[in-house]
Amino acid sequence: MRAALISLGSKSSQWTIEEMKKYFQTVDSINLKEIEVNLGGGEVKVLYQGKAMSKYDCVYAKGSFRYAPLLQSITGSLFHTCYMPIKPEAFTIGHDKLLTHLALQHYKIPMPTTYVASSVEGAKKVLEKVNYPITLKFPQGTQGKGVMFADSFSSASSMLDALESLRQPFLMQEYVETSGVDIRVIVIGDKVVAAMKRKAVVGEKRANIHAGGKGESYLLDANTKKIAVDTAKSIGAEICAVDILEGVKGPQVIEANLSPGLQGITAATGINVADKIAKYLYERTKKRTEKDKNTEATKIFEDLGITTTEKNVQQIITNLDIRSNKIVLPKVVNDIAKFNEKEDIVIKVNKGKIFIEKM
Ligand SMILES: Nc1ncnc2c1ncn2[C@@H]1O[C@H](COP(=O)(O)OP(=O)(O)O)[C@@H](O)[C@H]1O
Ligand SMILES: [Mg+2]
Repeated sequence: MRAALISLGSKSSQWTIEEMKKYFQTVDSINLKEIEVNLGGGEVKVLYQGKAMSKYDCVYAKGSFRYAPLLQSITGSLFHTCYMPIKPEAFTIGHDKLLTHLALQHYKIPMPTTYVASSVEGAKKVLEKVNYPITLKFPQGTQGKGVMFADSFSSASSMLDALESLRQPFLMQEYVETSGVDIRVIVIGDKVVAAMKRKAVVGEKRANIHAGGKGESYLLDANTKKIAVDTAKSIGAEICAVDILEGVKGPQVIEANLSPGLQGITAATGINVADKIAKYLYERTKKRTEKDKNTEATKIFEDLGITTTEKNVQQIITNLDIRSNKIVLPKVVNDIAKFNEKEDIVIKVNKGKIFIEKM
């Protein structure tokens, strides 16, 4: 099986590539900056160094928020051709704290109260009502660099004026008292594989390692593990880091990170996170490329109590498109099923399974 890691070439990406080589036949390191996507003319072209990108069984794409549109375009174009651990839309959601909080809200995942206003005047009205300190954040900040704390209305208000003059979007967030400690959790699939507690240096509220924070291994309870795994699901990532604050109200999610640094967590926990990622990618890719897809489709029918003698069942692997609470199926589904408009159908449904049949 052939795999590619598309990244900006960080140390963590290099580690992951080395570990992936233990499992995959070939692993290509692809520089995100040398990719271009051409849309139009009925087909999408993903070019690497000016030529059509090779075909892979697995593509693990990551990069910083600056490349979110490119990452979404690449993965959106390749999604049906190979296994990818991060859904295209995750790149816009995960790289924007406001969109992440909207996803968390949708899944009822606990988070600090977060305020959005239409203007600085609107924001000041919010700031008149909140408790202090308050947190102000750039939606796309990383490494603690876009996070500020204000102890009073007057300092928050002057920070907002500065942000306005810089045309910098911001969100306001309830300050969670943790004595400068946050929890960094690595989620792979539906499991937490490593977690560390990060403690900010004296006089600093941000616990990021880049802001001088020190990490130590940390054991999560079942509830916090579930919150972290649900967070990854809510943004559409099978591999990500989740930052959690443990305040008096319990664990609260502040961020998901699609391209987490691995040095800090590996040093703190002694867990080879890069290997865990590589192994997971391999197993998921293997599952996806299994030759006999029909066997699995037939098993789904049997699980539903439906016996079928049909040998031509075709399996389509895609990501679910839900619009206004309605499932939209790819065109190819009806090209095969040949249902007609308003036809009477039976829908048999169980948790995680749907079967539709003409009456
Ligand atoms: N609402 C908050 N209350 C208290 N501390 C916070 C809050 N939000 C962030 N922090 C602190 O700032 C750090 C960086 O915030 P985070 O939202 O994870 O942004 P970044 O993407 O820059 O890491 C956190 O690790 C935490 O220590
Ligand atoms: Mg963070």
